[in-house]
Amino acid sequence: MCPPSIIFTRHIASPASKDNNRRMQSDIVRIEDYYNPEYFSDIKTFADSRETPFVVLDRRIINEHYSELVDNFPYAKIYYAIKANPDVEILSLLRDRGACFDVASTYELDKVLGLGVSPDRCSYGNTIKKCKDIRYFYAKGIRLFASDAEADLRNIAREAPGAKVYIRLLTEGSHTADWPLSRKFGCQTDMATNLLILAKELGLEPYGVSFHVGSQQRDIGAWDAAIDKVKAIFDWLKTECDIQLKMINMGGGFPANYLTRTNDLPTYAKEITHYLHDDFGDDMPEIILEPGRSLCANAGVLVSEVVLISRKTTTSLHRWVYTDVGMFSGLIETLGEAIKYPIYTDRSGEREESVIAGPSCDSADIMYEDHKYGLPNSLEIGDRLYWFSTGAYTTSYSAIEFNGFPPLKQYVIG
Ligand SMILES: Cc1ncc(COP(=O)(O)O)c(C=O)c1O
Repeated sequence: MCPPSIIFTRHIASPASKDNNRRMQSDIVRIEDYYNPEYFSDIKTFADSRETPFVVLDRRIINEHYSELVDNFPYAKIYYAIKANPDVEILSLLRDRGACFDVASTYELDKVLGLGVSPDRCSYGNTIKKCKDIRYFYAKGIRLFASDAEADLRNIAREAPGAKVYIRLLTEGSHTADWPLSRKFGCQTDMATNLLILAKELGLEPYGVSFHVGSQQRDIGAWDAAIDKVKAIFDWLKTECDIQLKMINMGGGFPANYLTRTNDLPTYAKEITHYLHDDFGDDMPEIILEPGRSLCANAGVLVSEVVLISRKTTTSLHRWVYTDVGMFSGLIETLGEAIKYPIYTDRSGEREESVIAGPSCDSADIMYEDHKYGLPNSLEIGDRLYWFSTGAYTTSYSAIEFNGFPPLKQYVIG
C-alpha cells in the first residue's frame, strides 16, 4: 500500500479542465489594472517589513478619487460616508478638500467635529436613531436629518425643532448592486410624500428626498428610476401642497475596482447628469452625493499571509488556502461572496482552484468557496497575499477580539 503522502502528491498534479483554466485566467490580477505601479511599489515597500495582516491605505489615491468626483459632478456637494473608513487621516484630508460628512452615529459625529469640521458640513444620515442621539446632534449644531418613518420624524420634530429633513426612498436595483442597501432603508413614494407634508405640519423644513441605489451598483439605470420617482414627489408637492423641495441626496453606489469590472466614474457621471437634466432641466435642485466605497476602496491594499494549504481528501481537485485575515477580521463583505476582491501574489505559473478561508474557529469564516480563485500551484505557506481595493468597509467592520485576534490594523501612507 502506498504511504498517504504519495497518493496526496499524485492528486495535486491533477490537470484542471479547459473550462476551469479559462475561468481562472480571469482571476489573474495585474497590478497595472488596479494601481499606478509606482504607488503599488511604495505600498509594497512599506508593507514588506511589517507583520500581517494589515491594510495600507494610500492617501494620494483618495485625493485623486476625490478630484475625479468633483470634476465629474461639479454641481454636487460631497458628503463623505464616514462608515466606509473613519480613519482620522482620511477625514482630515477630506475636511481640507472642503468635503461635508454623512454621519451615522454620535461617535462619528464627535470624531469629525473633533477635527474642526463645522456642524453645517454634517448631516445625520442614519434613519435609525434614538431620541437622545437626535438631541445630541441638534445640540452640536447639526440641522440636516434623514428620515423614513413617521415615528422618527416626530422624534426629530421634538428634539430638533425647525431642522431640515429629507426623506429616504426605497429603490430598486438590489439585484445589480454587489452590496444592496434597500429593503431595510427608505419608504415608498406615497409614504415619502406624506412624510414631507407631515414634516411641514410639525414645524420642520421639508428639504428634499434621498435614495441609495445599493453599494457598488453596476446598473447605472438604477439612478434613472430613482430620479424619476424623486421628480414625481417634487412636482406633486409643489402643485398640490405648495411645498418647494430644494435638495436631492443621491447617496453612494459609485463603483470601486474589484474583480467584477464596472463602468468608470466619468461614464456614471455622464449618464446620471443626463437623467437629472431630463427630469429637472435648468431647474436643478441642490444635489448631494454620499460616496464611501468609490473614494476609499481602491486606496487600500490588505496584506495577509498564507497560514495553511490543505486538501480535504486525497482525491480533491481543489485546495483550501487559509490566510491570517478572514470574514471577521475585515472581510465581511465577502459574505455571500458579494464583493470579489482582486487577490495578487508574487507567485506565477500554473493555477489551481482554491477555496479561501480565514483563521478563526468559525466555519462561517470562508470567504470564497463557490467562486474558487485560481491561485498559483507554487503558492506556499508563509507567502503573502495582497487583497486589492480593500480601503472601504474592511477595518471599520473588523471584530475587536474574535478568537483573540486583534482588529485589523491600518497604516496610512502618501
Ligand atoms: C446613507 C448612506 N449613504 C452613503 C453610503 C455610502 O455608499 P457607498 O459606499 O456605496 O458609496 C451608505 C452606505 O452604507 C449609506 O448607508
